[in-house]
Amino acid sequence: MITSDDPAGQAGDSEISVEQRAREDELVERVVASFANAPDPRLRQITTALTRHLHAFLREVRLTGAEWESGIEFLAAAGHITDARRQEFVLLSDVLGASMQTIAINNVAVGDATEATVFGPFFVEGAPLIENGGDLAGDAPGEPCWVEGVVRDVVGNPVPGARIEVWEADEDGFYDVQYEDTRTAGRAHLFSDAQGEFRFWAITPTPYPIPADGPVGAMLAATGRSPLRASHLHFMVTATGLRTLVTHIFVRGDELLDRDSVFGVKESLVKDFRGQEPGTPTPDGRAVDGTWSRVRFDIVLAPADA
Ligand code: BEZ
Ligand code: FE
Repeated sequence: MITSDDPAGQAGDSEISVEQRAREDELVERVVASFANAPDPRLRQITTALTRHLHAFLREVRLTGAEWESGIEFLAAAGHITDARRQEFVLLSDVLGASMQTIAINNVAVGDATEATVFGPFFVEGAPLIENGGDLAGDAPGEPCWVEGVVRDVVGNPVPGARIEVWEADEDGFYDVQYEDTRTAGRAHLFSDAQGEFRFWAITPTPYPIPADGPVGAMLAATGRSPLRASHLHFMVTATGLRTLVTHIFVRGDELLDRDSVFGVKESLVKDFRGQEPGTPTPDGRAVDGTWSRVRFDIVLAPADA
């Protein structure tokens, strides 16, 4: 643990001589000083803090040369697997909780504004428009799920015309863009109506793994962690003058809620997906063979300048 009395993070390491510690301290200060004239003060602040925290980490764990090499190989592998469709560094940030921490910092709590969570790699610009009450499942296999709610601001005023983007994996655990063909399924956008309300058919979310065939997956395996994400439905909601909300809703009762691989779950986003028996009348009169579910998600948007 790094304390203010122990800035180098060497708590309890009595093996380090005074001279050794002085050498290591001196290097940290030299690197920090190398950034002292950075013209942009914010860049100076970030590079200085990065240097101090990085060196504190190296000194705390007393990193060996072999471990340093493994780290470099890991980062190189992340670079090699990254392309226009696959971003392994974002995935690394996700599984380290760095994405969620950045989201927490940048989405300050305002009244009862809906909490944000990770964006994930599977959003696609230009998803089809559906009417209120339409169906975004397309050919995606899964149990039908009726989703309804209202968009409001933090004062409680309804927000008409909010653009609501929704996307989700199918029951086999894949987003449409993960298939080799060019299908569009499990995604769409719609607009809240004059009362701020929205409603649509989707499919009941089920768990699926994050892409685990690269170095991040290997890291999860080596550390005994699962790549599975808790079942969820993605939302991105935009409206003039209001803060864009990127979030999900999660399924109450899902056993993965407390071990989501990217730390995306927040209690306020866990919703009751109420299972419906075959033959139960649907809200819009649609005929559904077999079971279906329904969920309510009321969305509160913070002011844009929050
Ligand atoms: C997702 O929910 O789509 C996702 C989020 C973070 C990493 C991988 C996938
Ligand atoms: Fe997802």
